[in-house]
Amino acid sequence: MSTADASLPARLRAEILGLAAQEPHPRGAAVAALRLVQARFGWVSTGHLCEVAGLLGMSADDLDGIATYFNLLFRRPVGRHVIMLCDSVSCWIMGREPLCAHLCRALGIQPGETTADNTITVLPTVCIGHCDHAPAMLVDSTLHGDVDTACLDHLIDMLRNTP
Ligand code: FES
Repeated sequence: MSTADASLPARLRAEILGLAAQEPHPRGAAVAALRLVQARFGWVSTGHLCEVAGLLGMSADDLDGIATYFNLLFRRPVGRHVIMLCDSVSCWIMGREPLCAHLCRALGIQPGETTADNTITVLPTVCIGHCDHAPAMLVDSTLHGDVDTACLDHLIDMLRNTP
């Protein structure tokens, strides 16, 4: 059984209930609860989503609607590092497509996929609010702007050597 199939640890369940208790309605803690789950497991499995929904008194479908609305909540397994390359208009105009092709070629994957060694996932994302430095991307939680191929090559090397 993988960790994503295991029940939420008691301590995490208690943390989620604690968050819910601070809200006028438990569902107000939905995003924070899912972020806790993701921080622990790397993504939010359907089993875990159902458990959180139960703790918050929501249906799994309602909670899944919230989870899938937010690009930074992952409903499928991802690698140790996630590169989210913006594909909105400013970045597209500033050369996002050839950059994406370079990145995918260097990693041997397509957008939406994870490298075989489980190190890096590449995901497209809508505007991340860094348009004045397009093309832009988020790498884990760090914003990068004015991205070029040299920057991508350096980043790939760095991520491969970062646990
Ligand atoms: S369009 Fe890419 S950061 Fe805004």
